[in-house]
Amino acid sequence: MSTSQQLPTHHQREPKPIKRRHSASYYVNRVRDSLTTRISKIICGIFLTLLFVGGIAVFITWLSLRPHRPRILISNFFIPGLDQPDGFENAEISFNVTARNANRAVGYYYDSVEAFVYYRDREIGSTPLVDSFYQEPKNTTILSKVLKGATLDVNSDRWRVFRKDRARGAVVFRLDVTAMIRFKLSTWDSKRHRMHANCDVAVGRDGSILATSKNKRCLVYFT
Ligand SMILES: *[C@@H]1O[C@H](CO)[C@@H](O)[C@H](O)[C@H]1NC(C)=O
Ligand SMILES: *[C@@H]1O[C@H](CO)[C@@H](O)[C@H](O)[C@H]1NC(C)=O
Repeated sequence: MSTSQQLPTHHQREPKPIKRRHSASYYVNRVRDSLTTRISKIICGIFLTLLFVGGIAVFITWLSLRPHRPRILISNFFIPGLDQPDGFENAEISFNVTARNANRAVGYYYDSVEAFVYYRDREIGSTPLVDSFYQEPKNTTILSKVLKGATLDVNSDRWRVFRKDRARGAVVFRLDVTAMIRFKLSTWDSKRHRMHANCDVAVGRDGSILATSKNKRCLVYFT
């Protein structure tokens, strides 16, 4: 009993002198440590809050400014004379392409805009579409062109195939629009990107665009 009572008192007594010997610097250190910890915690908290708020601001800005791809659709496509067997002699294709910039803040610089017409994956005509132009945000521009003569490769054989399709109700073409595009945000310009728009377009017996093809969004991608 006596030894067990002695032991703890002996152990308690031993560190006490050590504590007392270093007590002044010990408390100074303790206060300094807790102050440092608290200050660094506050700084850390402020920093994380700023990071969080900044991140949200950047995210919202990005959401509202992020460039959308141009929206390309065919508003009109007409190949007259399809009802006549010798229509190929004066063959022509006229079309209107709608290009819409749906961005709120980003503009497009269009360069080297060209159109290609394909029939069953074979190119039958191509033409430059417009000179370079700048399209401001929320703008819709209609580009129209007529392909004929040298720009349209249609002979009597091909015409006969068109007319076979026509007899079944529709002739399906593909109109591709390519362009070099730069994005503009305030004073910043992006580098040039090559845009491709692939549009399937069907015409009916009279050579006019079918309702199912009119104003249908084209597949737009960049390379
Ligand atoms: C197509 O463009 C031509 C020439 O700009 C215009 O006269 C015609 O109204 C346009 N058609 C459509 C459907 O937008
Ligand atoms: C789109 O931009 C063109 C060229 O700047 C302009 O002529 C046309 O009026 C604009 N259209 C709209 C709907 O703002």
